[in-house]
Amino acid sequence: MSRIDTLMGKMTLAEKLGQLTMAASSYTVTGPIIAGDSTDAIKAGTIGNLLNMVGAAHVRQMQRLAVEESRLGIPLLIGLDIVHGHRILFPVPLGEASLFDPETWALTARESAMEAAAEGLAMTFAPMLDVARDPRWGRSAEGPGEDPWLGARIAEAKVRGFQGADLAAADALAAVAKHYCAYGAVTAGRDYASVDISARTLREVHMPAFEAAVAAGVAAVMPAFTDLAGIPMTANKELLRGWLRGRWGFKGVIVSDYNAIAELINHGIAADLAEAAAHALNAGVDIDMMADAYRHGLPIALERGLVAMAQIDESVRRVLTLKEQLGLFDHPYRRGTTPESNATLTQRRRLARAVGARAIVMLKNDKETLPLPASLRRLAVIGPLADAPAEMRGPWWGAADTEGHVSVLSGLRAMLPHSQVLYVPGVAIESEDVSGIAAAVDLCATVDAIVLCVGEAAVMSGEAASRAHLDLPGKQREFAEAVLERARASAKPVIAILFSGRPLVVPWLVESADAVLAAWFLGSEAGNSISDVLTGRVSPSGRTPVTWARAEGQIPIFFGERPSGRPANPKDHFTSKYLDVANEPLFPFGHGLTYGLFVYSNLRVTPADVEDIDTIQIRVDVRNVGARAAQETVFLFTHDKLASVARPLLELKGFTKIDLRPGETGSVSLSLPATELRFLGPELEPVFEPGEVEILVGPCADRSRLLVGTIRLSWSRPC
Ligand code: GLC
Repeated sequence: MSRIDTLMGKMTLAEKLGQLTMAASSYTVTGPIIAGDSTDAIKAGTIGNLLNMVGAAHVRQMQRLAVEESRLGIPLLIGLDIVHGHRILFPVPLGEASLFDPETWALTARESAMEAAAEGLAMTFAPMLDVARDPRWGRSAEGPGEDPWLGARIAEAKVRGFQGADLAAADALAAVAKHYCAYGAVTAGRDYASVDISARTLREVHMPAFEAAVAAGVAAVMPAFTDLAGIPMTANKELLRGWLRGRWGFKGVIVSDYNAIAELINHGIAADLAEAAAHALNAGVDIDMMADAYRHGLPIALERGLVAMAQIDESVRRVLTLKEQLGLFDHPYRRGTTPESNATLTQRRRLARAVGARAIVMLKNDKETLPLPASLRRLAVIGPLADAPAEMRGPWWGAADTEGHVSVLSGLRAMLPHSQVLYVPGVAIESEDVSGIAAAVDLCATVDAIVLCVGEAAVMSGEAASRAHLDLPGKQREFAEAVLERARASAKPVIAILFSGRPLVVPWLVESADAVLAAWFLGSEAGNSISDVLTGRVSPSGRTPVTWARAEGQIPIFFGERPSGRPANPKDHFTSKYLDVANEPLFPFGHGLTYGLFVYSNLRVTPADVEDIDTIQIRVDVRNVGARAAQETVFLFTHDKLASVARPLLELKGFTKIDLRPGETGSVSLSLPATELRFLGPELEPVFEPGEVEILVGPCADRSRLLVGTIRLSWSRPC
């Protein structure tokens, strides 16, 4: 008989429900405060899992209570939102997506896991895989951007990185793919709002990243708070039992979101906690995070016949199996025993600095304003985010304290020891006080260049942080416009650095500034990463994983839209357009300038006639006609022009990178299995249809900048 069978045979109902319960410690608050202390319950075996606990000693103390003082000695599973680092922070996920580099995505997850496991943690509530095309939604910051194919690549990399090769290893974390599913499609970009999308959009846009996470072996999945067409995900039997466990074969644990089971009452599908608990358990949710619905609701649900003991046992078995896979039974204290060395932490900060620099997207760089000239003597670093180290953390900073992060000001002062680097905040991030603008404007006339640091506070994106206006908050626009006017009058270049968890709608700033960097929230080494790029020590290479709207009225705006029957035509009034704004975005998906300048030529796509068993080979030449070495990211898109259903104007199918010196020409190759050209036919089942498909290659999702080839698909002839 297995250890788990033996335990199951001994467990009381209260102990079983304890294994299905996750309670929060008070280290950090990630949801509504629900009072209560877990210590006695842990000793009684009626709480088997914890979240929001930080500190090796604290974690060990709780684990010892469970292992040495409870009746059955079942170890705790202790988790935390380690989303973009534990104590040393990497860029927020949306920023890190800009690297278009799966190896680095995996590496930062691995480093985060090592740091958190060294403090005794065994689970992270990450990766967040919600594709989002509405930047009003603050949780865009936590996700993979707007594209499902990219989301799937990030899912694979993050699961691999967090979990490592062996879930039982001392530095492995159980990853949790969240929030299943389509949370990014909330109504009007308002967090927690209802979700109502087509079955096609669900399957083509929102499910692929989760399917990829399951295929990569993710240990757990977290359903979204939201309903999907009226069925809350926490009670969605079709998507949890039907798709996740049935079609995809997921055998891991489903952990609810924070208090989400109790919130089924607010959704209007449960009259009380017992019904809510029954809905969730019947749908396949194993762990109740912070609703205490299972402990208090399931005994009543059993009496009412709403659930069967077998279902409770099925969930308990999955939780105990995960704990066994994590090695918690055999080595409950293995995680958290060995503190990391200073050399390890130093190396991790170096990585954070390098990843931060690569996450920066240079949106504009007129007149080669950047890199800053070595002759520069006086530099103004102004704005509410110029000396704001704590804000550089971005949302979901987890266990990262407020100190220890590098601001833009300190980064530049360290990088330019022989220059005068002068600082004035000008305005606060969100206040109405404009009294500081004059001093900032006066300073601009006395320096060689101006670095204008504007954008959002860390808490203005992430959870419960939707914004209806996507311009700069507070009086920052008034401040920036005054600075830009004075700078123009005194012919001083302005480099605007945008800090945000979403693509801001700032066409006026892009129009007036000489250079613009999207710096997202780069984490602990932000100021050094930014200084590396501003001074040319690092050539910017980031590419935006989201489309930047030129007006809020364009939202949702994304490159994977399907064609209109009346495509925009300036010569024809009755076509798909706005009367007041162009259709084109401010910046397309994939946009990002470097210190080089790249020209594409000589696209070769072979074979021209492709059978479903073939792999398509794509090659293109790239030349750096710029004055500096740089790295180019080359994107591969497809467009199926004629099919049984209307197909997106562009579909992302791959990317690669090339480093080129000035004047150097190189060629890149990409391969595409023809099976990747299958799609969901009219019945939403995968089909492979003969006919022509366009193969498009270039720097971003702007068709006018892509080289286009065509292949002809056919069925493989029966041999
Ligand atoms: C929050 C978030 C979820 C997080 C969980 C635990 O409400 O929705 O992403 O993992 O609670 O903090």
